[in-house]
Amino acid sequence: MKTMSKKVVENHISQRPIKKGLVGVVVDETKICSIDGKNGGLTYRGYAIEELVEKSTFEEVVYLLLFAHLPNEYELEEFKDRLIQERDIPDRILMILKDFPRNTTRIELLRTAISALSLYDKDDYNYSEAANLRKGIRIIAKIPTLLAFSHRIQSNLPLIEPDMEGNLSHAANFYHMLTGEIPSDKIEEAFNKVLILHAEHTLNASTFSARVTVSTLSDIYSAITSAIGTLRGSLHGGANERVIYMLIDEIKKKDNIIPWVEKKLQKKEKIMGFGHRVYKNWDPRALILREFSKEFCKIEEMNTPEDGIDNLFDMVEILADYMIKKKNIYPNMDLYSAPLLYALGVPPPLYTPLFAISRCVGWVAHSVEQLKNNKLIRPRLRYVGDSNKKYVGINDR
Ligand code: COA
Repeated sequence: MKTMSKKVVENHISQRPIKKGLVGVVVDETKICSIDGKNGGLTYRGYAIEELVEKSTFEEVVYLLLFAHLPNEYELEEFKDRLIQERDIPDRILMILKDFPRNTTRIELLRTAISALSLYDKDDYNYSEAANLRKGIRIIAKIPTLLAFSHRIQSNLPLIEPDMEGNLSHAANFYHMLTGEIPSDKIEEAFNKVLILHAEHTLNASTFSARVTVSTLSDIYSAITSAIGTLRGSLHGGANERVIYMLIDEIKKKDNIIPWVEKKLQKKEKIMGFGHRVYKNWDPRALILREFSKEFCKIEEMNTPEDGIDNLFDMVEILADYMIKKKNIYPNMDLYSAPLLYALGVPPPLYTPLFAISRCVGWVAHSVEQLKNNKLIRPRLRYVGDSNKKYVGINDR
């Protein structure tokens, strides 16, 4: 390539096959996470997701993703303490949360609040790796507070301060700030597992956004703000919210599923909670969440959709069976996280932002990794528009 003239390079680019959506394109190396799309495998820093979900806590997984090894007891305690000390948010940020218009989506509130938070970070203009990690840890610690406060302000509910004493884990503290209740061990465990499963997934669209943003040598708050904006779309993180509305507002009854799905497919519409760019079989996270979803949706007092709506887990199972048999398209994790979050009492407008409070760990880890060996991410587009047009003055158009 070095010896080619500029014109030859341009010709060469114009002849290359276009990889629309960057399907299958490998842009860099990573040590954070690996996906085996063929066999349904997922590892964080080399550890199988199944083992992490079974044996670790969210805080341990955050440490692992950020610092590339599992913490020993001392490291974990110190890290947990660091997260706890960073849970509160500046008064000025609370003021703007209160000022936002009502009926605003929670994910927009979160995106805007994170962007504003950078202005109050004492490391704002320090771009060293150590400062980036400090900022990343602050974001991870504060994001549940931003979300719980935003939601309660929008719902005209009194605010519940974060637990700064360290009596509650990351998951339990969020649940408490959101609902005002201390979760049972069972609920806390389920929340922990949901957070672990959403924490990282290599170069998904929002992580790509984060990496593109820092690749310009922009800052980590900008990376997380870009990533949240990318996550909210319904083909990515917004799918979990769409799944629950599909179940409770549109389908409602088991008997409605097949006619509903056939109609959608005839119209060539996508069914939310199905399909994946990398997994062409079972998504391993979906398989884990399926078990939890089943367990919680079968607890009478937890699965309480309004009258006239069938058991949510039963409904997604019928849907999954149909999609696999008829279309060979498999469920992704959103199909099962939605009924589980519903059973856990999380209000649907929080499903996508809840994804963000976990995935921000991956975004931070990737931002730091990108900057370790940075190269501006700047692909090409092939121009197919008009050329050689003659400019016409405004009075003659
Ligand atoms: N419902 C119906 N058909 C689907 C589908 C779905 N959820 N997902 C994929 N397909 C079909 C497409 O229509 C397409 O069929 P065609 O080849 O006959 O046109 C084929 O499968 C390939 O789909 P495509 O959208 O090109 O794959 P992709 O890799 O670009 O998309 C997703 C992956 C995730 C964007 C896609 O599966 C989707 O939109 N899913 C629904 C949203 C969702 O749940 N997102 C969360 C992802 S974790």
